[in-house]
Amino acid sequence: MDTRRFETLAVHAGQTPDPVTRSRGLPVWRTTAYTFDSAEHASNLFALKDLGFIYTRLGDPTSQILETRLAALEGGAAAVVTSSGTSAVHYAALTLARAGDEFVSASNLYGGTVTMFKVLLPDQGITVKFADAAHPESFRNQITPKTRFLYVETMGNPALDMPDIRALADIAHEHHIPLVVDSTFTPPALYRPMEDGADIVIHSLSKWIGGHGAAMGGVVIDSGKFDWKASNVPLFTEPDANYHGLRWAQDLPAELAPIAFALRFRTVPLRNLGACLSPDNAWIFLIGCETLHVRMERHSQNGLAAAKFLKNHPEVAWVRYPGLEEDPAYPVAKKQLKNGSGGMVVFGIKAGNGQTATERGRQFIEHLKLFSHVSNVGDAKSLATHPASTTHSQMSEEEQRASGLQPELVRLSIGIEHIDDILGDLEQALAR
Ligand SMILES: Cc1ncc(COP(=O)(O)O)c(C=O)c1O
Repeated sequence: MDTRRFETLAVHAGQTPDPVTRSRGLPVWRTTAYTFDSAEHASNLFALKDLGFIYTRLGDPTSQILETRLAALEGGAAAVVTSSGTSAVHYAALTLARAGDEFVSASNLYGGTVTMFKVLLPDQGITVKFADAAHPESFRNQITPKTRFLYVETMGNPALDMPDIRALADIAHEHHIPLVVDSTFTPPALYRPMEDGADIVIHSLSKWIGGHGAAMGGVVIDSGKFDWKASNVPLFTEPDANYHGLRWAQDLPAELAPIAFALRFRTVPLRNLGACLSPDNAWIFLIGCETLHVRMERHSQNGLAAAKFLKNHPEVAWVRYPGLEEDPAYPVAKKQLKNGSGGMVVFGIKAGNGQTATERGRQFIEHLKLFSHVSNVGDAKSLATHPASTTHSQMSEEEQRASGLQPELVRLSIGIEHIDDILGDLEQALAR
């Protein structure tokens, strides 16, 4: 475990100057394959007897630096990067569950994840049961002998509710299953869910960790603390036909046993389904890591100021921001978020002038000048979107409401520009 402080790890973890060229900057290894010393070396690598690079789909040195850094920032034992947050979520589910298995998930999630859980995974024989993230006990009620994991977003997209991670981890562990959290909206400069017992942390790197809207990527981080031997996860306790009949919980050498999840993730879904991160994008995310703590401070300051401004504006009906004292998420946010509440603010405009709140919200977005109208979050630039008709449009209105998404909700990802320019843009668009 690297004991240096967060800010130092963000800049340095995983990287030392390249010993061959002495380059201080990060190299990008653009190759598909790595040479073997001998036939025995090659077979040992494939048998996991030696760890090393084989083929970039399974890992590469630039991505390995990123994995080391992200594991250090989250306080985890190992990480695996993927080509998108979506593939990280999908492969995490396939690492833990197979046809006939179930899992319990919060219903307030990013819309693409809801579709994956409600449609794609059931088509593969894996069934989801939805629970209410605000009530951890509702997860317990849905657990059966076939439940393989619990799943939540640490700050739900887009309603910005915050589940109590410690309570959920306790329920998961009582049932000998891991708690998997998507922490995309709370990057590790704000919150480290493993400190509250989460076993697997997922991020869409495309958001704040990349930080500049420049590349797609995802990561899973394994805490290294979950007891797979005593687990109710047969993919770890029974022989795995995907990997020479290996029992991941029992058969790994002692030094690898704690990171059984990361190893199965890499060598089964990543290896055989193939959504690997490109080394060039790994480089972009490493550059993003270096400024993560600085950017999150400013995103949080600006987010809070924008939320307060909207709360006091006569055209605004309601605002959600976990850092506002009156927000329903505030009690959990106060406990879990150590350095600010981030840059996401959602709100609804009042109906008026013969128009619905939704119509006025959509017009408001069109009138913004500094904010970009895009379906993304986590950029240094301020962004705005209307989730009900974009990011969450594959869900029915009933499903949207169940996940806390009101039709009029406007989603703002507050950037790191000067706050006066941000507030000025909100003001002029509201006035129009
Ligand atoms: C909370 C959350 N998780 C996962 C994803 C998917 O990530 P990606 O777009 O990198 O596939 C998103 C995308 O918006 C998201 O908001």
